[in-house]
Amino acid sequence: MARRVRLEFAPGVILEFVNRDRGLDFVSRLAEKGTRLPFVVYGPEGCGKTAFLKQAMLLLEEHGYSVVYASPLQREAREALVYSSSLRDIIREVLHALPEPYSSIADVALRIASYAIRRLSKPRLALLLDDVFQAIGLERIEAYVKSLLNLIEHPPSDYDRIVVIVASSEGLSRERLARHAWTSTRMMWNMSRDGFQELYGRLPGPKPGFEQAWRATGGNPRLLAKFYQVGWDMGVLIDEIVEEKELVRLVGMLGGDEIRLLRDALVDPDVLLEHLSLEWGRRLERLLIEYNLVARVYRRSEHLWVDEPPPRRDEELGIGEFYAWQAPIYRDALKTLIGMRR
Ligand SMILES: Nc1ncnc2c1ncn2[C@@H]1O[C@H](COP(=O)(O)OP(=O)(O)O)[C@@H](O)[C@H]1O
Ligand SMILES: [Mg+2]
Repeated sequence: MARRVRLEFAPGVILEFVNRDRGLDFVSRLAEKGTRLPFVVYGPEGCGKTAFLKQAMLLLEEHGYSVVYASPLQREAREALVYSSSLRDIIREVLHALPEPYSSIADVALRIASYAIRRLSKPRLALLLDDVFQAIGLERIEAYVKSLLNLIEHPPSDYDRIVVIVASSEGLSRERLARHAWTSTRMMWNMSRDGFQELYGRLPGPKPGFEQAWRATGGNPRLLAKFYQVGWDMGVLIDEIVEEKELVRLVGMLGGDEIRLLRDALVDPDVLLEHLSLEWGRRLERLLIEYNLVARVYRRSEHLWVDEPPPRRDEELGIGEFYAWQAPIYRDALKTLIGMRR
């Protein structure tokens, strides 16, 4: 088993990467063959995509890959571009030769990859792109993905193997890419109950009891971190969610039909599918996806999922057959707001 990365879970709390064994097996299999298409991994906000890519970086290095990890949304430059030591000289040259110093990190990463293929002899190269879609904007997603595909199909020189993985929580970019056969799409869900219990077990200090944490977060580690940081106070956690996700504004945008549908969707998110033929039904669905409250989980075939798929149905967690609340507590947050509307 690969070394485990250490991750900052909350200020002052460093935890090792836990669980996700199936997901790591998936990366090992990619490492053995390389990818013919860029893999795009979609998953709820805070489900652990960044943590997973960081662990994948170690794993790929153990398979002999030189890895570039780019995360344009990171504020700190040192976190935004991370790379294997084998690439140090190449990266220095690329950064030096950039046309303008403020190229986007997503473009820089692509340039590094292309340069590395030219400079190294038949390299194994991995490009891990974290939240790049959000950074480059919806309009440029197709062009960017096409250049990733070009790198794989028409490299500037020979390579041994190449692995390209893009992680995104941008539910809407999926519609953009669905028209093309340029990517392989995989989904990632929150942690499985066992995996989440392992993570919960490693948290220091007094804890509320596992069931409460599970029922609030549905296995979402970012929400677990928040819950921990607010001293396990559910009311404060809900307030934070309302603020951060601008839910007052969201609910304010909804008309009467949409509010009624939202009420029903809080009980069973699959009602969203039944209303897609109506314009206001589509609008509500888009908004809930755009705000990263709901995810589409149309299929459960294991090969479509990095790691464990969500359960087929779980009323308590808000998981339907076709749609799922990204975390159960989002429903509680919305309930406090639509109570005021009629
Ligand atoms: N498998 C894991 N083991 C340990 N910590 C994890 C794991 N997955 C996620 N975390 C922690 O949970 C938080 C949210 O994860 P993150 O990867 O940032 O989510 P995402 O990128 O999907 O929004 C981070 O603090 C991260 O370190
Ligand atoms: Mg992330």
